[in-house]
Amino acid sequence: MIYPIVKFGDPVLEKPAEPVTVFDRDLKKLVEDMFESMYEARGIGLAAPQIGISKRLAVIDITFQEDANAKLVLVNPEIIHSEGKHTQTEGCLSIPEFREPVSRPRKVTVRAQDVNGHWFEKSGEELLARVFLHETDHLNGKLYISHLSALKRDLMKRKIRKLVKAGEW
Ligand code: NI
Repeated sequence: MIYPIVKFGDPVLEKPAEPVTVFDRDLKKLVEDMFESMYEARGIGLAAPQIGISKRLAVIDITFQEDANAKLVLVNPEIIHSEGKHTQTEGCLSIPEFREPVSRPRKVTVRAQDVNGHWFEKSGEELLARVFLHETDHLNGKLYISHLSALKRDLMKRKIRKLVKAGEW
């Protein structure tokens, strides 16, 4: 099932999500649906709040279907190590059409559970590190625009308000 992507302005995107405690068939189905929804939306990462489900769960595929082994599921993820600095243009499926350079750590290690509840650690650099951070932020109710200057963020919010008024959001 393909879920519509929730857009900026919906409160579900700005509240911390609830931990996942049950690792059952429903969770596996939700993960499948999240991958489908992410590919349909042409994204490389999707957090459950972005489909209106306030759970600490995200799916990632930075190769966008080129490498089946690159598919990652993060349940209850935590960033346990970060180092360096790296700036790259970033966007979000919940804030379509906008992209801004964002400075983030260059290398991070995430600790998370898989779809069966087993804990693992995985390190990533540059784009993968960025996606780990971006998706973990989502689960904490934080959007990438919170890393921009207040000036840039307010400008973006003004543009979005205009789009909302025009019925184009
Ligand atoms: Ni996002």
